[in-house]
Amino acid sequence: MKDMLERLEERRAQARLGGGAKRIEAQHARGKLTARERIELLLDKGSFEEFDMFVEHRSTDFGMDKAKIPGDGVVTGWGTVNGRTIFVFAKDFTVFGGSLSEAHAQKLTKIQDMALKMRAPIVGLFDAGGARIQEGVAALGGYGEVFKRNVIASGVIPQISVIMGPCAGGDVYSPAMTDFIFMVRDRSYMFVTGPDVVKTVTNETVTSEELGGAKVHTTKSSVADGAYDNDVEALLQVRRLIDFLPANNMDGVPEIPSFDDPARVDNSLDTLIPDNPNKPYDMKELILKVVDEADFFEIQGVYAKNIITGFGRVEGRTVGIVANQPMVLAGVLDSDASRKAARFVRFCDAFNIPIVTFEDVPGFLPGTAQEYGGLIKHGAKLLFAYSEATVPLVTVITRKAFGGAYDVMASKHIGGDVNYAWPTAQIAVMGAKGAVEIIFRQDIGDAEKIAARTKEYEDRFMSPFVAAERGYIDEVIMPHSTRRRIARALAMLRHKETERPWKKHDNIPL
Ligand code: HXC
Repeated sequence: MKDMLERLEERRAQARLGGGAKRIEAQHARGKLTARERIELLLDKGSFEEFDMFVEHRSTDFGMDKAKIPGDGVVTGWGTVNGRTIFVFAKDFTVFGGSLSEAHAQKLTKIQDMALKMRAPIVGLFDAGGARIQEGVAALGGYGEVFKRNVIASGVIPQISVIMGPCAGGDVYSPAMTDFIFMVRDRSYMFVTGPDVVKTVTNETVTSEELGGAKVHTTKSSVADGAYDNDVEALLQVRRLIDFLPANNMDGVPEIPSFDDPARVDNSLDTLIPDNPNKPYDMKELILKVVDEADFFEIQGVYAKNIITGFGRVEGRTVGIVANQPMVLAGVLDSDASRKAARFVRFCDAFNIPIVTFEDVPGFLPGTAQEYGGLIKHGAKLLFAYSEATVPLVTVITRKAFGGAYDVMASKHIGGDVNYAWPTAQIAVMGAKGAVEIIFRQDIGDAEKIAARTKEYEDRFMSPFVAAERGYIDEVIMPHSTRRRIARALAMLRHKETERPWKKHDNIPL
């Protein structure tokens, strides 16, 4: 018996070594942790339970029958994050570059199936070169099985991907179908085909960083939702994100004890809006002053900065925040901002996370670049996402709510449940100057007349009261009491029920 126990320990020790000491050393030399070290950091200490440690590939081509490593390039299992169960897999770059064989795929699909059955989040730590080239179509088939499960689980359990090394092929397409992607700066890359293939096919010379580094994917392509300086920081931030997320689409948002008084007033908000309507102010200040303990997890923080998206809590319960940012492009809605916010709104709606919208938007961005880029379709995504949302929607208009953007940003008309405005709000078709130049075009040469007309338009429309008179705004509120008003609205809306006609699914303008 003792022998057997020893043999088991030996086999375990061998499996834990992955691709061997030399490759582990190389992994560390590149500033990367190993798959197991990453899992240890992600999960609560000692909570990891591993599956399939002894699985080996079954291929025989290209001498692979002589190259078998237990675990086959991926470590899978489950554990807890602050006591809540999650499933996890971590690609082991030291074993065939973390590439996916048929057996490796079966380990992944087992863990995906378990996560779905248990209705618990799944986190994938990627550091891998895609389909195992020696296996050919068996590996491609394996990816297909993984992709299909990504889609079936979408909207049922949160799926998070962390890109921690060079990733190609299926190791970028599977993350692309998950809810959030995070990267590690300077050592993680995502591309469908790497620089060598790019050179062969297009004769373009490009580095991995230029082709698919964290900067590219967080600022240009919007493929990634955030980037961190190293493995440790990335994993700790993912733990922080998991604390905000429901386990699944039925459980409702997690509730943690909050020591921040929901009725806390903040008098500094009464002077947040500058006297000059064209002067910017930082919408993040309002967000941080409203959410519990100023704890805000931003999603896509460096992409389309004219709109802010992220998670906070009110009375200990998670809320999604969407807010125009007057500091960037005056908070205008363009294609990128619309797509970014639409995806966020849909995530919140799928997982029953109430949405608080802070609005200061001068409209949609005019111009050929936007129109040629499909602003109509992209703007419609946000309009569609808010309109289909059935979660509680609380909106606060701080300043401008102009034109179509007024409708889009969770207005009462498309489903806003509680819509507040600050006394500084201006709810109108457009700014006074633009409006007067159109409706009083005949007076354009006469500066005095135009000034008088502008003043008249401002007095009539540049306030929240025309909308409030119609009930489009439920109440004009004091800025200092914004947190209290939002907290009360969310508490009232907690058991909101809405009926929609049956459909297979909608047809959001993709
Ligand atoms: C088998 C692989 C591999 C792969 C890497 N390795 N990728 N083995 N199949 N796909 C092995 C290498 O042979 C090497 O083994 C070890 O992993 C480390 O790789 P290096 O190339 O030395 O590392 P690095 O220079 O850091 O480059 C990493 C890389 C590169 C960028 C990932 O290896 C690469 O481009 N790999 C191929 C990527 C690819 O084209 N994959 C197929 C995609 S198709 P040794 O023994 O020397 O340590 C696909 C289909 C899915 O995924 C469908 C999508 C819709």
